Amino acid sequence: MATEPQPPQATRALSGIQPTGRFHWGNYFGAIRQYIELQPAAVGPRSGSAADEAYYFIADLHALTTVRDPARLRGFVRDAAIDLVALGLDPDRAVLFVQSDVPEVTELAWLLMTVTPMGLLERCHAYKDKKNRGLPADAGLFTYPVLMAADILAYDATVVPVGEDQVQHIEVCRDLAGTFNHLYGEVFTLPQPRLVAGGGKVPGTDGQKMSKSYENTIEVFEEPGPLKKKIMRIMTDSRSMEEAKDPETDHLYQLVSLVAPEADRLALADLYRRGGFGYGEVKKQLLAAAGVFFATARTQRAELEADPERIEAILAAGAAKARVRASAVLARARQACGLDRTAVPSGRKR
Ligand code: ADP
Ligand code: TRP
Repeated sequence: MATEPQPPQATRALSGIQPTGRFHWGNYFGAIRQYIELQPAAVGPRSGSAADEAYYFIADLHALTTVRDPARLRGFVRDAAIDLVALGLDPDRAVLFVQSDVPEVTELAWLLMTVTPMGLLERCHAYKDKKNRGLPADAGLFTYPVLMAADILAYDATVVPVGEDQVQHIEVCRDLAGTFNHLYGEVFTLPQPRLVAGGGKVPGTDGQKMSKSYENTIEVFEEPGPLKKKIMRIMTDSRSMEEAKDPETDHLYQLVSLVAPEADRLALADLYRRGGFGYGEVKKQLLAAAGVFFATARTQRAELEADPERIEAILAAGAAKARVRASAVLARARQACGLDRTAVPSGRKR
């Protein structure tokens, strides 16, 4: 018998981002931009690499393991929501919400915790790194990957766009989902990680990976004054202006490449290979290109900032949609493991 062509499996993308500070270029080019590209088209069939559905959340419960100042946490969550929408995350195409607005996830995390071997968490790098540095770790940090697994499983996510540092956590998620399914039946959908395209690390102002912990970041919505200062202070080497240079190994060039139009980037690469230029000029070019690149987002951000009710309404609508899905998954899990006393066991009459 000829087999009917199967429709491609629907994809549901999901990712979370921690509100532990203002977003920098590493977060945007390394993560947020890909989330936005994965949003389904507003109308019509699935296009290119877009998913059929997309869920994105601000991981405030995870941030509690590092941010201990309530006013700062509230501010970071609000800024994260405004920044994401200003950068192009469209609440009509993706579900945008705050992690803690979906309490079903924390209950699910407990169910998963009961099937989590200690050894699995002991190998997870966030906890292991802290322990190796002799720093005290709390149970929140230790069980962080279980909460992350619940985040993913609660929405039946099929693909999770993440940076390389999070791939281990997706493996843990698949592991826990597999164990639970093995014990109690097919409850959870196993997700796939999707390494964000390019996979490249955005360099910071000192040439190392851009990261809050290295104090080498350029924030996406940096004010013009501080932005200029940071760009002008980008570390460069002391070779003479005349010397020819390899653009690909130069972090200043890499930063320009992120924001400059293609023709300008090619012209700059030529200039590097020929030599006879000063880094000061390149920094001015970077400043101008960054201004143009983020101009629309900056205008949108100002509008959202002036309308706090709008962002609250977006988050409330997102949480309501997210809860519908998470409560269905939680109900499935509760029933499967015997917490739902009204459930009729399969094969038995009431
Ligand atoms: P930070 O290192 O500043 O604390 P986070 O760990 O909060 O940043 O980053 C959240 C996500 O942003 C990461 O999982 C990763 O996908 C992306 N990211 C952060 N910094 C970079 C970078 N320098 N280059 C590429 N991607 C990055
Ligand atoms: N742990 C992720 C990070 O630090 C954030 C996160 C929390 C997440 N829950 C998630 C990412 C679920 C993907 C899916 O970047």
